[in-house]
Amino acid sequence: MYSNDMTFEEVLKGAEAILQGGGDASGVLLDVCRLLEDRVPHYDWVGFYIADPKEKILQLGPYVGAPTDHVRIPFGRGICGQAADMKRTFIVQDVTKEGNYLSCSSSVRSEIVLPIMDGMSVIGELDIDSHSISPFTEGDRELLERICSLCAPLVRSLRDGSRRPGVQV
Ligand code: SME
Repeated sequence: MYSNDMTFEEVLKGAEAILQGGGDASGVLLDVCRLLEDRVPHYDWVGFYIADPKEKILQLGPYVGAPTDHVRIPFGRGICGQAADMKRTFIVQDVTKEGNYLSCSSSVRSEIVLPIMDGMSVIGELDIDSHSISPFTEGDRELLERICSLCAPLVRSLRDGSRRPGVQV
């Protein structure tokens, strides 16, 4: 159970409703970020990165939270880059224990990064920072992996279209 009496299932249903509502890909993905940041207390920064597999770069897409310097991250660098290389969800429950980490803010204590796949290719990522230590459970992984699958077509359309700058609220 999350605050505002929203369960994982309700957060998932909220994301499904946003995705079914249509609209431009950036706006819809931004609304998904807003929902997650708003409804899950331990999600303090929520954003999408769009992958350029040829250049092996992650480009910041729609996000909610503090501005970040990390708008272009090479595969392999930081938690985001490692998740892109490994093609699997990467959970760091305490960022001070992770050597290959790109810090955005001293308030961030933990992070979860999920690759968004198109077949065997990484087309983007969902990145969530938390101000809590060890907040992430298997429930977070399950919820967010399902949301990533639902968002994959929109991430693919952003990757295939013009490169868009990050959208901050
Ligand atoms: N901490 C990330 C960089 C991106 S920000 O969290 C927005 C990393 O280590 O890859």
